[in-house]
Amino acid sequence: MKSMLFSRFFILLPWILIVIIMLDVDTRRPAPPLTPRPYFSPYAGGRGGARIPLRRSRPDGRPGRGLEKLNESRSQAQPEPQLPTIYAITPTYSRPVQKAELTRLANTFRQVAQLHWIVVEDAAARSELVSRFLARAGLPSTHLHVPTPRRYKRPGLPRATEQRNAGLAWLRQRHQHLLLHQRAQPGVLFFADDDNTYSLELFQEMRTTRKVSVWPVGLVGGRRYERPLVKNGRVVGWYTGWRADRPFAIDMAGFAVSLQVILSNPKAVFKRRGSQPGMQESDFLKQITTVEELEPKANNCTKVLVWHTRTEKVNLANEPKYHLDTVKIEV
Ligand code: UGA
Ligand code: MN
Repeated sequence: MKSMLFSRFFILLPWILIVIIMLDVDTRRPAPPLTPRPYFSPYAGGRGGARIPLRRSRPDGRPGRGLEKLNESRSQAQPEPQLPTIYAITPTYSRPVQKAELTRLANTFRQVAQLHWIVVEDAAARSELVSRFLARAGLPSTHLHVPTPRRYKRPGLPRATEQRNAGLAWLRQRHQHLLLHQRAQPGVLFFADDDNTYSLELFQEMRTTRKVSVWPVGLVGGRRYERPLVKNGRVVGWYTGWRADRPFAIDMAGFAVSLQVILSNPKAVFKRRGSQPGMQESDFLKQITTVEELEPKANNCTKVLVWHTRTEKVNLANEPKYHLDTVKIEV
């Protein structure tokens, strides 16, 4: 009886050991990902493979809580590379179309991941209209103001010099502070005038800016577009119909600068003194880069992803002087 028990035990023993080993091996194997990596954007598709997403969310644009929860827990084990923040500096001034312009811009920016909007009012104080607007815009923003001195408010003189400089100063101050606390963060800056039209693809392009990147701009300089001419991956000239002698024949909407470059050139600013219309871009870029160094984006500068649209001045000829409306409505 005893020997039969023993023999059964020895027959079963190897099988029990095999089962234990199999179970152990299986639990040590890393779990397969439950969701696609968030880095692969629903917008990415097509050639070029993985691109940085416009926004980390569901393809339908809604936040998709469940997904984000899963991604969070996974990122603890396997940290993702940090997505550089895009800082958009927008100078803006009070006029009948201002809220409409800002609304159009916010509707675009809201769809871009990790974008921080720096809105700089050309005014002696922050207006209620813009303050209220930003509070409800649904995206991270900073609201600054600085008035353009009266003597510079003339046709033919460069616009928004002081406002862009205020944006640069804020950015430098904030990041010096983060640097001191060893919380340096990657970032890209671009100047987003409030009346232009921006495609979402533009943000994917500029996000990978190492120093200074450039791309074509539509509807500018009296042509359908202006663009940097590219040869063997380098900018070698400019396709432009206006002042081709400009060192950088590019509109404000045609370039982005890495935060690193902004911080390591603390004196680079827009200048009033000696600056001519249309030369602001060149004067600024000259301080931080060279033409040879520029990084061409948008398929070697062959795609228009931003348009220098300008909004027609509105006709308010029929606004009443008397018998005003009984309610006060913000437009
Ligand atoms: C062109 C360029 O695209 C601008 O980047 C450049 O600043 C401008 O020329 C210039 O001459 O300085 P344009 O369409 O003629 O642009 O200029 P606006 O769109 O009228 O102004 C550029 C930005 O400055 C806008 O965001 C606008 O809201 C703002 N702005 C304009 C002010 O903050 N204050 C003003 O008095 C006028
Ligand atoms: Mn404009």
